Amino acid sequence: MCGIVGYVGEKRATNFLVEGLSKLEYRGYDSAGVAVQEGESLSVRKHKGRLTNLEKELEKNSLEGYVGIGHTRWATHGAPSDTNSHPHLSNNGKIAVVHNGIIENYIELRKFLGEKGYKFLSETDTEVIPNLVDYYYDGNLFDAVVKATERLEGSFAIGVISEEDKDTLIGVRKDSPLIVGLGENENFIASDIPAVLSYTRKVYLLEDEEFVLMNKEGVTLLDKKGNKIDKEIFNVTWDEKAAEKGGFDSFMLKEIHEQPKAIRDTMTSRISMEHGVFFDDFKISKEELESIDRIYIVACGTAYHAGLMGKASIERLAKIPVEVDIASEFRYRNPLVTEKSLVIILSQSGETADTLAALRDCKNVGARVLVVTNVVGSTMSREADHVIYTMAGPEISVASTKAYTTQVLVMHMIAIYFSELRELNSKEELDNIKKEMLMLPEVIEEVLNIKEDVKAIAEEIKDEKDLYFLGRGMDFFLALEGSLKLKEISYIHSEAYAGGELKHGPIALIEEGTKVVSILTQKNLIDKMISNVVEIKSRGAKVFGVTFKDMAKACQVLDKVLFIPETHEILAPIVAAVTMQLLAYYVASLKGFDIDKPRNLAKSVTVE
Ligand code: F6R
Repeated sequence: MCGIVGYVGEKRATNFLVEGLSKLEYRGYDSAGVAVQEGESLSVRKHKGRLTNLEKELEKNSLEGYVGIGHTRWATHGAPSDTNSHPHLSNNGKIAVVHNGIIENYIELRKFLGEKGYKFLSETDTEVIPNLVDYYYDGNLFDAVVKATERLEGSFAIGVISEEDKDTLIGVRKDSPLIVGLGENENFIASDIPAVLSYTRKVYLLEDEEFVLMNKEGVTLLDKKGNKIDKEIFNVTWDEKAAEKGGFDSFMLKEIHEQPKAIRDTMTSRISMEHGVFFDDFKISKEELESIDRIYIVACGTAYHAGLMGKASIERLAKIPVEVDIASEFRYRNPLVTEKSLVIILSQSGETADTLAALRDCKNVGARVLVVTNVVGSTMSREADHVIYTMAGPEISVASTKAYTTQVLVMHMIAIYFSELRELNSKEELDNIKKEMLMLPEVIEEVLNIKEDVKAIAEEIKDEKDLYFLGRGMDFFLALEGSLKLKEISYIHSEAYAGGELKHGPIALIEEGTKVVSILTQKNLIDKMISNVVEIKSRGAKVFGVTFKDMAKACQVLDKVLFIPETHEILAPIVAAVTMQLLAYYVASLKGFDIDKPRNLAKSVTVE
């Protein structure tokens, strides 16, 4: 988490630094700060809280230099405070550093530097870096940064400037993303592409342990021995407008509305009624598929919930056993992954630390790794054997919406692809799913029109302290996602249960007036689910539901119903997901919360 930026050029550095940070605030917004080379010395402005605090300070107290670095923080070590904000300076004030990541051995390094007389002002892990650079500095900043980073354990993307080398900025990454933007007489570093997009579309995507040394004339990429690295320039093709709100009050609402397009784009040129499902960068023969003994799906958070949907459809349509794991658990449970395993890694950002580490572990044991990600050029997309992109476009809101529905869609497409290869299901059945899939954009448009019904339910639950989400089969997996969405942006505690599990404990929580959201889209399970609803209603619960119009018997037991258009049962949770997203959105909006920047969260979780 955290976002870093850096500028070297002919214009006032803070213009870019502040604008770039505003595009990276999704990575953390506990504090913001900049350091700029002004005349002979470094000047720093940094403030606890949102970027606007820093902007106000810069209006009163501007910085005029042409070389600078900036940071927006998601606090790890030390509370959000002015002192813990980045940039951090070396004790002599000559070296400034911004850092995204975690230095795991910072306590040892503090001790080491303490013995050499260095003092620490903040509680951060980062403050060791400028002091280490200073410790190793003997006239060559690059050498000092190399030596300092060799001492660091953990993850980092850093930007360094120094009074000793006034025109230069150095960047380096390990396990945290960093890109280099190439402009006309100006160059940039940033944690992510949107930060530089209004300045340049030409970027380098740095790999681990690659250094960038830049001044306004040019950029040199180096390895730690100082050898030059040749790298292809990556030309960004997506529209800058895609990363703006476009008239909506929040990115989340905009992104919910973008789902018909995101879903259409994700299917385009990948589904054909005649030739089946195919992917440009993921082709597997029937024999290769038959030799796979198990599929592992690994992801975190919302992406994990999409993975659960993938398990259901792959096992149902392709009859291959699938295990789904939370990445942070998978890594430490000694999974039985072998070279006969196919590992599907799901990640919107393609940078999540635990998921990336799981990918690397699986590659190390020789498994075939397929990444499903939304970010072209992300670290995971570069390290995997195969990539399928969800074509959702940039997702800025911390609460994932269009990335989730497109991930679920891709999982179902993979299931159909495997099923077609294995010839396990009738063409008619698969054609039927594909036909319904192609209609999803229109179906979702219809759901976007039932906002008033969703709002009415949001009004009823906005003041609750606890809420329950229920479902069976794929609806249970959606219940998990609905519950996560609600808690992350409205701060209402909620839990999701499989309908049949209630009697095994949680039903004890149901009392007069308890609010429950139940999802009823799986026709073969609907009678069972209705029984569960009746059980909790008879104990006083008020139950809201999502189902199809023709589900008269479900409607009879539900207190309020959100109707979704009829579609194939494998696809229905994608459609119902839109109602869950809108519900979370309206509850948070009625409570007056900052929807795109929920407390304690950040979009890209690049720490373990
Ligand atoms: C919730 C949310 C998170 C992410 C999770 C994984 O709305 O967005 O739970 O799904 O942090 O992130 P990615 O998909 O980038 O690996």
